Amino acid sequence: MLLHYLAPFLLLCAVVQVAVAFTDGLLSNGNFELGPKPSDLKGTRVTSKHAIPAWEASGFVEYIPSGHKQGDMLLVVPEGAFAVRLGNGARIKQKVAVQKGRHSLTFSAARTCAQDEKLNVSVTPESGILPMQTMYSSNGWDSYAWAFRAAVGEAEVAIHNVGREDDPACGPLIDSVAMKELTPPRITNKNLLKNGDFEEGPYIIPNTTWGVLIPPHIEDDHSPLPGWMVESLKAVKYINSPHFSIPRGNRAVELVGGMESAISQIARTIPGKSYALTFSVGDASNACEGSLVIQAFAGKEKMHVPYDSKGKGGSKRAVLRFTAISTRTRVVFLSTYYSTRSDDMSSLCGPVLDDVALISVRR
Ligand SMILES: *[C@@H]1O[C@H](CO)[C@@H](O)[C@H](O)[C@H]1NC(C)=O
Ligand SMILES: *[C@@H]1O[C@H](CO)[C@@H](O)[C@H](O)[C@H]1NC(C)=O
Repeated sequence: MLLHYLAPFLLLCAVVQVAVAFTDGLLSNGNFELGPKPSDLKGTRVTSKHAIPAWEASGFVEYIPSGHKQGDMLLVVPEGAFAVRLGNGARIKQKVAVQKGRHSLTFSAARTCAQDEKLNVSVTPESGILPMQTMYSSNGWDSYAWAFRAAVGEAEVAIHNVGREDDPACGPLIDSVAMKELTPPRITNKNLLKNGDFEEGPYIIPNTTWGVLIPPHIEDDHSPLPGWMVESLKAVKYINSPHFSIPRGNRAVELVGGMESAISQIARTIPGKSYALTFSVGDASNACEGSLVIQAFAGKEKMHVPYDSKGKGGSKRAVLRFTAISTRTRVVFLSTYYSTRSDDMSSLCGPVLDDVALISVRR
């Protein structure tokens, strides 16, 4: 009898569960286009916790319209007409219904007047510090990705400015907070490396033309680029067609940090056996002109692959042959030079890496 009474209720719960489960894209009001009531604002400052629909704000949070002037600085918003600014110690958070498993968070951020900023991105109980010292795109906005593993069906996503500036209103602007479920990549009989074509990766916000940064010091678990790690000081950039020229498929990696940004993966190998590491080196058609060089490492072998870039797209294939000396071989790629785009002379750029495969070959 009880079950009889409960059945419609349980059915309703199941329907609601399906309806709210998150699908890839912006979080609820993830672009902050829905704003506080005028009574919840003092100038640009948000004065109540639940003033921004779908979000909970704490600390010095500001609601910034595009074109807002601060001193002689004009603040521009990448998507829509509004963004938030996180001052000293400020935080925004939101609960999201998710499937268990790995997800990647993407958001756009721009520095304003502070130099050395750090954001603490967390999805309880995991967290990571994302440094924002270097601007990679010329308009000041960059998108960042960070991954986490959800153990339960609900995730509390928070972005927290842990910086301390003299001026509390000098924190970063945040816009377009999005999420994507990641599919775990597998090795195949054609490739001993996972996700060698980089097709699986973080969400790229539609209409953003500057790709997504995969931050440094990210271990496997927090890598939004499944299979790969960024083990150096600077980020690498994840780029997509149609905004960039991609050697094959729709996505690739641009090594924007010179020797300071290396991407790596460890493969299982058999000592004494011969292998071939093949990959594409190119340019993203983003005015990154001149001599670009990718260095590839595998086992004890190393190779320099020069690529003469006109900045208009294109690529070539390279092969590094080596004999494995261990049951685990670390494959690493980095860019020899630091390059900047010839159209703005300031944003970092570099060679594009794509289509990486490791296969066992006969001697
Ligand atoms: C980042 O935020 C999480 C969640 O609030 C917290 O547990 C962690 O200690 C913070 N890390 C730093 C370095 O502030
Ligand atoms: C992307 O740009 C197109 C054309 O300007 C616009 O119609 C669309 O709404 C934009 N999409 C997003 C998510 O901003």
